[in-house]
Amino acid sequence: MHLLIMGLPGAGKGTQAAKIVETYGISHISTGDMFRAAMKNETEMGKLAKSYIDKGELVPDEVTNGIVKERLAEPDIKEKGFLLDGYPRTIDQAYALDQTLSELGLQLDGVINIDVDPESLVERLSGRIIHKETGETFHKVFNPPAGDYNEDDYYQREDDKPETVKRRLDVNISQGQPILEHYRGQDLVTDIEGNQEIDQVFKDVKEAIDRIK
Ligand code: AP5
Ligand code: MG
Repeated sequence: MHLLIMGLPGAGKGTQAAKIVETYGISHISTGDMFRAAMKNETEMGKLAKSYIDKGELVPDEVTNGIVKERLAEPDIKEKGFLLDGYPRTIDQAYALDQTLSELGLQLDGVINIDVDPESLVERLSGRIIHKETGETFHKVFNPPAGDYNEDDYYQREDDKPETVKRRLDVNISQGQPILEHYRGQDLVTDIEGNQEIDQVFKDVKEAIDRIK
């Protein structure tokens, strides 16, 4: 299966992606995760990405298109399929993805669009905590780790500060619409109500994927 998951920052793409890859055994490709790994390793690409991410801006298309193209050419993709999370994020990235998929002989099966009320997103992102060892995402209030947990085992993302979040939301709201229209034109999009509890969102996501399969 070849899927995209779309939604504003904090919509729950990563949270749902973790459940999708566990259930369906497909490869998760998150451009945000790839950039954060490169930032951690302080590679040239990581340093460049950081200069945009810290401001809540998008990393330039040519860089992003390049890393996705390389990743999609890896052997696990043909074997297992993929779930792209956080890409494409501009209409030019959507065109680049069309081109890359056609070069690789792959076809998109569906787009899961998580619809959320933008008002709720600052609260979601300011409460997000990520486990240092496993990378698993939680929320201090909406999805706390089980039992008594040690806060030192978790970190918060640098770009989850309210002022950066506001810029991320502005950028993504303005860029997202044409991408969705592009895929709606191909009848690929399923809209999911994202203002529900995580497990209920996943129930709806699963129903959508089972229809696509
Ligand atoms: P990226 O890492 O993709 O961030 P994003 O799109 O801003 O989305 P997030 O990861 O913040 O949110 P999410 O939807 O995954 O939500 P999550 O599941 O964690 O990108 C970061 C940056 O990298 C970009 O700003 C850009 O600079 C750069 N970049 C990445 N891709 C790029 C591209 N293609 N082109 C150019 N630049 C690019 O959930 C959030 C919180 O809410 C968690 O705490 C979670 O527990 C909680 N939560 C989840 N679901 C629910 C629910 N249903 N109810 C209550 N709480 C919930
Ligand atoms: Mg994410």
